[in-house]
Amino acid sequence: MALAAAASSVGVASVALLLLLIANASASDASLEGRRALPGRETIHLEPIVFAERKAIVGSSPWRRSAEETPPPPANNSLVLAAGRTHRSDPSAKLTMYGGGWNISETHYWASVGYTGFPLFLLAVVWFVGFGAVMLVISCCWCCCCFCRDRTDRYSPTSFKTSLILLVILTIATIVGCLVLNAGQQAFHASTINTVDYVVGQGNLTVDNLRNFAGSLAAAKNIGVEQIFLPVDVQRKIDAVEEKLNSSANEFSTRIVHNSDKIKNVVDKMQYYLMAVGVIMFGLAVLGLMFSVLGLQFLVSLLVIAGWVLVTVTLMMAGVFVLLHNVVGDTCVAMDEWVTHPQDHTALDDILPCVDVATANESMHRSEEVTAQLVALVNNVIVNISNRDFPPGLEPLYFNQSGPRMPVLCNPFKPDMSQRQCAPGEVDFSTASGEWKKFQCQATGPAGKELCTTAGRVTPAAYNQMTAAASISRGLYEYGPFLMQLQDCTFVRETFSSISVNNCPGLRHYSRIVYDGLVVMSGSVMLSIVCWMVHTRQRRRRARSG
Ligand SMILES: *[C@@H]1O[C@H](CO)[C@@H](O)[C@H](O)[C@H]1NC(C)=O
Ligand SMILES: *[C@@H]1O[C@H](CO)[C@@H](O)[C@H](O)[C@H]1NC(C)=O
Ligand SMILES: *[C@@H]1O[C@H](CO)[C@@H](O)[C@H](O)[C@H]1NC(C)=O
Ligand SMILES: *[C@@H]1O[C@H](CO)[C@@H](O)[C@H](O)[C@H]1NC(C)=O
Ligand SMILES: *[C@@H]1O[C@H](CO)[C@@H](O)[C@H](O)[C@H]1NC(C)=O
Ligand SMILES: *[C@@H]1O[C@H](CO)[C@@H](O)[C@H](O)[C@H]1NC(C)=O
Ligand SMILES: *[C@@H]1O[C@H](CO)[C@@H](O)[C@H](O)[C@H]1NC(C)=O
Repeated sequence: MALAAAASSVGVASVALLLLLIANASASDASLEGRRALPGRETIHLEPIVFAERKAIVGSSPWRRSAEETPPPPANNSLVLAAGRTHRSDPSAKLTMYGGGWNISETHYWASVGYTGFPLFLLAVVWFVGFGAVMLVISCCWCCCCFCRDRTDRYSPTSFKTSLILLVILTIATIVGCLVLNAGQQAFHASTINTVDYVVGQGNLTVDNLRNFAGSLAAAKNIGVEQIFLPVDVQRKIDAVEEKLNSSANEFSTRIVHNSDKIKNVVDKMQYYLMAVGVIMFGLAVLGLMFSVLGLQFLVSLLVIAGWVLVTVTLMMAGVFVLLHNVVGDTCVAMDEWVTHPQDHTALDDILPCVDVATANESMHRSEEVTAQLVALVNNVIVNISNRDFPPGLEPLYFNQSGPRMPVLCNPFKPDMSQRQCAPGEVDFSTASGEWKKFQCQATGPAGKELCTTAGRVTPAAYNQMTAAASISRGLYEYGPFLMQLQDCTFVRETFSSISVNNCPGLRHYSRIVYDGLVVMSGSVMLSIVCWMVHTRQRRRRARSG
């Protein structure tokens, strides 16, 4: 789950870096230099959009551990995520309480959460060593003191009956544990896969948007050789940005697919092992009961050894699931708190390269400005060149334009950048190229000096440049908000809050059930093993004495 979140964050990190490039390039688009002199035209200068720099750990594993020895005190303005939940003993700091909160780049966090599985790991070791020693002693006694057996061997009907009853109860308990484990692991598996699919779906949405944005920039490549207002270097910049958008979308998409495959692979393997353990324990319990009732001592001895190892493995697995359950719970709480505290610095910000809301807002504003400036530029040409009739001789301005006046492009923003309704007679981004096409004339002449031979207000070359400019401003206008959402992590916040509402309860619940199943199973098999030994022995003594 944490991995899934990390997978999405890695992609977002690369996208955010990319935004810097787009923003700078679109700012350059706006300072367009005209080759033809426009009457009263001032060069429009825009400051490049500068995004706040933020340390982005692109591509680094969130599971990496830092080598630092002492937990750094949290910065003053920082929010400790899941502080209550993560307040645990930290074995790597002499069992002091860990106070750094949810922070997967923090060794002490992992140490303290790993410590929650400690009782089970300890139990596994104690069982392995203790029972091993007991078996050794028993077999030694059996070898050395076979003579003295008669002295102590007494058939006890009470312990015969008790061990039989206990054996039946424990076998039933084991079977119940297996069923619980199986139900739990299936639900946990489905829940994890759902979560991963959801994150992948969100990622695909992002990739689609990026590709569409690149596509809207691609329209700008149709610019003719002759330039009215888009100089060659701007054209090259568009190409470069488009290429970066393309490759970034591709990389993001491959990374999503790759990461989700990896996570699914791990989850599938885990399911496989859990199922294997469940089935083996089930078989062990049933066979154990059968063999001890039948008094097959050799087979029971084999089962005892198998059970000895399997119980150790199962206890270890239960320990791992305690850890997993706690990490899932911590992560869910951390995501929740991160979503509701967008201003504070948290450990999640180290993984997700989100800029603060104010900067994102500022960038958004700039992108709106660029859109408006581009529209103004196009309209300047339409109103002041195309729609005016110049006498021959004013060559850069005169190209034998004639006929009805072209409509101007609708500016979606007022001068104060609030939303503006289009005035009647204006064309909007989607209709502009179609409408303007009607005013295109047929032209002859060398590039840059074409003259219209038919009625019209715009030469084909100029038409291409106008539609290109309109298409860039359209791209900025439509995808600007989306790109800003990526930048200020609104997108990630939405994803997280949805995961926390829809997926977290299931993940937490089912990891707990798997753990319960493992514990019930290992506990009852542990006691069963003892009962097998006692019961087989009693049965043999009964046979001998009776
Ligand atoms: C932390 O910030 C608060 C105000 O936000 C201030 O009162 C307090 O003194 C600061 N503490 C430290 C250790 O800087
Ligand atoms: C996401 O996109 C990839 C490749 O484009 C595709 O294989 C996968 O099915 C998509 N996943 C979802 C959930 O849409
Ligand atoms: C970007 O991708 C689109 C389609 O995915 C393609 O048509 C276009 O040529 C690509 N552009 C670059 C610069 O790679
Ligand atoms: C998380 O842990 C890392 C590594 O110890 C540390 O550098 C970082 O400041 C921590 N983040 C927070 C918010 O405490
Ligand atoms: C963004 O900035 C504008 C002014 O520049 C302000 O009116 C608006 O409230 C800000 N929005 C947010 C979400 O900060
Ligand atoms: C046309 O040019 C004049 C200056 O000559 C300028 O004031 C006006 O804004 C321009 N028209 C448009 C639509 O840009
Ligand atoms: C200018 O355009 C008109 C049509 O509007 C056409 O009849 C005329 O021949 C053109 N003049 C030149 C020099 O091409």
